[in-house]
Amino acid sequence: MKTIRFGIIGGGLMGKELASAAARWMHIEAPGARPEIAAICDVNPAARAWFMDHVPSCDFETDDYHALIARDDIDAIYCAVPHNLHAQLYVDIIEAGKHLLGEKPFGIDKAANDRIMAAVAAHPTVLVRSSSEFPFFPGAQAVVKAIASGALGQIIGVRARFLHASDLDPNKVINWKRMVDKNGAYGCMGDLGLHVMHIPLRFGWEPSRIAAQLTKIVAERPDGKGGSVPCETWDNAAIHGMVDGQGARFPITFETRRIAPGEMNTWEIEVDGTKQSIAFSTKHPKTLRVLDYTPGGPQDWKHRDMGYASAYKAITGGIFEFGFPDSLQQMMAAFVDELANGRDGMAQPFNCATPEETAASHRIMTAALGAAL
Ligand SMILES: NC(=O)c1ccc[n+]([C@@H]2O[C@H](COP(=O)([O-])OP(=O)(O)OC[C@H]3O[C@@H](n4cnc5c(N)ncnc54)[C@H](O)[C@@H]3O)[C@@H](O)[C@H]2O)c1
Repeated sequence: MKTIRFGIIGGGLMGKELASAAARWMHIEAPGARPEIAAICDVNPAARAWFMDHVPSCDFETDDYHALIARDDIDAIYCAVPHNLHAQLYVDIIEAGKHLLGEKPFGIDKAANDRIMAAVAAHPTVLVRSSSEFPFFPGAQAVVKAIASGALGQIIGVRARFLHASDLDPNKVINWKRMVDKNGAYGCMGDLGLHVMHIPLRFGWEPSRIAAQLTKIVAERPDGKGGSVPCETWDNAAIHGMVDGQGARFPITFETRRIAPGEMNTWEIEVDGTKQSIAFSTKHPKTLRVLDYTPGGPQDWKHRDMGYASAYKAITGGIFEFGFPDSLQQMMAAFVDELANGRDGMAQPFNCATPEETAASHRIMTAALGAAL
């Protein structure tokens, strides 16, 4: 079993999740390799202390990412920092020859993404992938397999959504994800967009003729110091476009909402076809909905319990439920598998979101900014 030594840059919410996924690697049927978290970089001493206290394999800490990426004993980096830092850090990581699993959106805007794409092109032996874990939910994997099989017939339309609700509270203190200089002009689209576009883009469904409705709902937020500050980012976005080419022509809608009352991290996709329609939502995490149709027959949505049936086998029994930390571990397994065994040698075919898919997501989100109604 090959060991891939990871350095983590950005030990916040997501950095800790990834460390946890690596720590329980015995859980997953490993694809010939296992990750080891060997080093942490964060400018916040408390974040570094958490890693030094909780991750036994982590024996190097720094507040300067240059010191981490200069180390010979690090193979790969997981980078989870605010969006304004993506371009500089990702380019430096790639140029240092470290494989990169980076967080979305892979650049604060299209110009930043272009810089990352240039570094990717200049370093073809470095594996670069973007985080996007929801397609590893068993229901989402079933949607992927159904599309790939051709069982849906002619595609009628696609709707993919990612819904949050905590920003409905006007008293929620502002954080960097609501600040244009750190999160970007995309607002909610930059935060949530690649999540909803990953599966459609995997099938080449990049829409043209984009129209978008972007809304700002909460104009000011507490600054956490007794005052209030403008909240400038887009709260909600609906992007509409047309997939047109290679014999297919259908509308596609991507919705990303920070303010969708009652929704707590709900990711969902519905693909409608003339022979079969298929839908999955993390709101009902083990339920796949399928409508099989034959001309003149009934149009019944059927509900199927999925159990623990993701990309890679795990020790969890097939009847048990799957959750967010599982999807992250499955995504990490896909990265490790592709790194250890190559794209064609992977134990299963669904690899992590590619740089090209992030570039397509930036084309869509940039078009949406320009086409906002
Ligand atoms: N895949 C997902 O489901 C998901 C969920 C949330 C966030 N994200 C993405 O993850 C990334 C980070 O988000 P988060 O929620 O973990 O944010 P966070 O604020 O919880 O963590 C970011 C960390 O980066 C550190 N940091 C800031 N500047 C740094 C620097 N120069 N060098 C080293 N560390 C630095 C901060 O101190 C902080 O600990 C973003 O790209 C975000 O879009 C992904």
